[in-house]
Amino acid sequence: MKLLVTGGAGYVGSVNAARLIESGHEVVVLDDLSTGHADAVPDGARFVRGDIDDVIGTVLAEGFDGVLHFAAKSLVGESMVDPAKYWQGNVVTSLRLLDAMREHGTPRLVFSSTAATYGEPEEVPISETAPTRPTNTYGASKLAIDHAITSYAAAHGLAAVSLRYFNVAGAHGSIGERHAVETHLIPLVLQVALGQREQIQIFGEDWPTEDGTCVRDYIHVTDLADAHLLALEHATAGEHRIYNLGNGTGFSVKQVIDTCREVTGHAIPAAIAPRRAGDPAVLVASSERARTELGWKPERADLTGIVRDAWEFTRSRQEA
Ligand code: UFG
Repeated sequence: MKLLVTGGAGYVGSVNAARLIESGHEVVVLDDLSTGHADAVPDGARFVRGDIDDVIGTVLAEGFDGVLHFAAKSLVGESMVDPAKYWQGNVVTSLRLLDAMREHGTPRLVFSSTAATYGEPEEVPISETAPTRPTNTYGASKLAIDHAITSYAAAHGLAAVSLRYFNVAGAHGSIGERHAVETHLIPLVLQVALGQREQIQIFGEDWPTEDGTCVRDYIHVTDLADAHLLALEHATAGEHRIYNLGNGTGFSVKQVIDTCREVTGHAIPAAIAPRRAGDPAVLVASSERARTELGWKPERADLTGIVRDAWEFTRSRQEA
């Protein structure tokens, strides 16, 4: 298929672009480089630097079989202090994309949705039928887009799949996570191991969990990319399907830090800090639906392996 990958210079987008190329697809990456890196765009992809709001019509006019829409603002903390960035940058931009796809007859969409659409769960693991009550603006913006996609699929025959990611981590060979301003737990802890940061702050030790720190479900970025390939294959005209992607096992912030200590062999000092606004206590996925309907089988579920891949990537960047 000929596929447009928005946000294909970012962490998750570039790994997916690489995986699509490895699987024989033709890939065009569209990215404004606001947070991505031109050198993360994989060899074999054509790169268009631009803003979706400005160029999406022109780009889609050349004809595509589908769009994988990764471009987004995706920081929970930031979304609580600068909500406009999320309503404008995520919701309005995605509506522009949907309209351009309709205008140019682009038949398929795979959308990066998120576990943050659920908010604080009533039941764990979280299935796709769980209530959606986001606790932060980031999750609310992604949920609004999911709703828009549902109605565009029903009204205009779009074949759409939303994948609700839990906590994506690890690296795909030489492609990994490197944000100019890092806020995610594993890369921050690894920066402490490298001596780039003195200590890791643990955001709250008074959560209703076993050790008092937040629990998350970490998924390897390569397993995540494999789900996108399957989603593309299974997308059906007029339907919007939603799948959770996680491993079904929760790890607390303290457990993640301990795993990083084990993998890196560094002491990694940690300090307790106040809770971060917008954080739910526990997010763990049930990915039964993805396994049954898409045939998805995560092959890199072990947290130690995920951290090891992230660590190898981080160290190789340090040496480069
Ligand atoms: N955390 C710390 N200290 C830090 C950074 C994070 O204690 O310095 C904690 C957070 O409070 C949270 C956990 O580590 O409890 C994970 O935080 P991340 O920022 O790494 O990830 P989030 O869970 O906030 O969010 C990520 C993605 C979202 C996605 C969500 C789904 O950024 O896009 O996972 O679980 F929606």
